[in-house]
Amino acid sequence: MIGAIIPEVRAALAGPLLDWYRIHKRDLPWRRRQDDPYAVWVSEIMLQQTQVATVIPYYERWMSRFPTLGSLAGAPIDDVMKLWAGLGYYARARNLHRAAKIVVERHGACVPDDPDAIRRLPGIGRYTAGAILSIAFNRMAPILDGNVIRLLSRVFAIDGDPKSSHNQTALWRMAEDLIPDGEAREFNQALMELGALVCKPSDPACERCPLLAICRAGNSPDPTAWPQLPKGRSTVRAAHAALILRREDRVLLVKRPEHGLWGGLWEFPRLECEPQESPENCAARAAQEVVGVTAEVGERLAKIKHTVMHYGITLHGFEGTIVCGDPVAGNCAELRWVTPSNLHDFPVSSPQKAMVEAVIARLGSRS
Ligand code: ADE
Repeated sequence: MIGAIIPEVRAALAGPLLDWYRIHKRDLPWRRRQDDPYAVWVSEIMLQQTQVATVIPYYERWMSRFPTLGSLAGAPIDDVMKLWAGLGYYARARNLHRAAKIVVERHGACVPDDPDAIRRLPGIGRYTAGAILSIAFNRMAPILDGNVIRLLSRVFAIDGDPKSSHNQTALWRMAEDLIPDGEAREFNQALMELGALVCKPSDPACERCPLLAICRAGNSPDPTAWPQLPKGRSTVRAAHAALILRREDRVLLVKRPEHGLWGGLWEFPRLECEPQESPENCAARAAQEVVGVTAEVGERLAKIKHTVMHYGITLHGFEGTIVCGDPVAGNCAELRWVTPSNLHDFPVSSPQKAMVEAVIARLGSRS
């Protein structure tokens, strides 16, 4: 049962979250025009079902061709569709064009800041209305997208299907109650940003999370146990990449931070691949982000499938050579150079157990 948000909970969540956001937020083009409701609207429509990296060039081309709502409303539909070509879900572009014409006709080319008037425009649902109202107008309107659902489900350990009508009502209510006075613009973006950068689906970085102190999932043995997607719902697939860095006859193991998934266990430096990122690229990033070195990614040693809750993880393991830098325990608790024959002395996560065997089979027999 989820009760109303009490003011102390709001303060304990909003303070650290806003502090974190001010430091870590990405410099995204639409954030430079966040008090322009038209620019926020375009970005939010483009970001539906589409990754940030894909959206950026489309957004920039769009804003230079249609810098104002009036210029969009006055453009022929063929020009509009040409600019959208490749982004998919083309009804979004048609609705945006129709809605721009309506705003010109009924609202004097000014995006209305009235929730009912915004919701009546084609293509604008509850989430998009909340995003425009909060980001552009700093109105106390909630947003709930996939990132926010995952984050709130974990912080408050919300049981049951997050898509059930009971949980949807509770989550929307929470998303509204949590907004600190006068901070909707920053707070809503901070929730989405933390979900996107830290509270990732299959690999939450709890040790870097500003909400760890109050997060029920983060202080449980398995933070990915929430949100509880219903049984039978297809597994969410995720790719991870690990790099087996060698120095003479040893390989590098890192210890995971105490909190979060596989807390305190050892592993080869590993990250979750970003959408559309190749495992090779992700492995190179793991070297950089986990132990601070530049590495060349070599041959693939193993490809391991593993299931945690409803996540189907494919772990790709590559041989790697350090080309620049000395490993430091940056995003890990500790590091150790280990001979293949000593690898069994280190407790590792299940998918990395299979990786250890693959490494022993390959390198053990070579050295
Ligand atoms: N996803 C949806 N809206 C977003 C926004 N404003 N910034 C980054 N990612 C988003």
